Amino acid sequence: MNITEIKSKFPVFKKNSNLVFLDTAASSLKVDQMINATNNCYTNQYANIHRGNYELSSKLTKYFEDARVKVADYLNVSSKNIIFVKSATEGINLVSSAMSSSYFKDGDEIVLSYLEHHANLIPWHLVNKNIKIVPLNINLKGEILYNELKDKINSKTKLISLTHMSNVTGSITDFEKVRELSKNYNIPLLIDGCQYAPHKKVDLKELDPDFYVFSAHKIYGPSGLGVLYMKDRWIDSFPPYQGGGQMINDVDIESSSYADGYEKFEAGTPPIAPVIGFSSSIDFMKQTGPDEIYNHEMQLHDNALEKLKKINNINIYGTSKNKGAIISFSINGIHNSDLGAMLDKKNIAIRTGHHCCQPLMKFYKISGTSRVSFGVYNTFEDVDYFVDSLEEIIKILQ
Ligand code: ALA
Repeated sequence: MNITEIKSKFPVFKKNSNLVFLDTAASSLKVDQMINATNNCYTNQYANIHRGNYELSSKLTKYFEDARVKVADYLNVSSKNIIFVKSATEGINLVSSAMSSSYFKDGDEIVLSYLEHHANLIPWHLVNKNIKIVPLNINLKGEILYNELKDKINSKTKLISLTHMSNVTGSITDFEKVRELSKNYNIPLLIDGCQYAPHKKVDLKELDPDFYVFSAHKIYGPSGLGVLYMKDRWIDSFPPYQGGGQMINDVDIESSSYADGYEKFEAGTPPIAPVIGFSSSIDFMKQTGPDEIYNHEMQLHDNALEKLKKINNINIYGTSKNKGAIISFSINGIHNSDLGAMLDKKNIAIRTGHHCCQPLMKFYKISGTSRVSFGVYNTFEDVDYFVDSLEEIIKILQ
């Protein structure tokens, strides 16, 4: 991959050419074709969609629905199963809310893991039935103990909901193992793809979950947009998540009936410009190649890990072989937030803290980590500058 060329597509580097951005797991930098498409949408194409019988509106409606098809093609599924939401978090909340009112019964169980982000924990805590959360244990490498899975499921298990890639350890879940059991026992599967989808090809036909969520802002796209894939069975049986314009069939003053299909879940004016912009981020992913992106990022990851391991008093959290380009670490005697602040002075952006994964922090018996995460625009120079800066800071702080 020609990283100089790729970096030139990220306008942030024009004014801030020395920026070493190692926080793509929190949100990625923005690619010019997405910014241009969004700008063009607001400048030349904008009107509300699905509602106007004039040219501006009908053209943008077409572009919006074309974007749905592009997202669906990218995931290898039908566009009728793609629901646009405001975030992956909202996608999981939509599923938990619908399951809460139409599916779960008191005494049901759902299986989650200690790797989950709060976005795949709290929506299940909010279920208004007396359901039991059954946690899947992990090992110190940050890998799910798949051999325990069989013992964790039974006739009361109504859902398995797991991350595709941990935002702290980078561990990738082996869904072949999970799917075998979930299929045999007919248990629906939700996959949180926020960290995986920006870095590796996602083929939902092959993966075959009931639900898959991810956010656009981690894939060089806009904030304020999430994608929720849902199988037909659930689209047909779930009640609406929110009420409002567009999701209706017929409305009386005291009651209403709802649209069929994904429209039932898209109340109100949708995130029009973000969807148009995101369509261009998908183009960028396709042009660059998700597998090439993953290989590039993993080379940087391996190089950084090798260098970090040589630092005295470093703890590294998550050493699975099957992982993405995320490294969480801490240095004995140094507070993560001090490290983050000192690195920021050197124009290096990392994330510190619990990363919205308090159960995982409790598993490791820590309050937080320092985390570096790579994106398509990172270079070996970034790794060298980061590790050299870290070593300098450690000398000052220790
Ligand atoms: N979930 C994002 C992260 O891990 C925000 O930083």
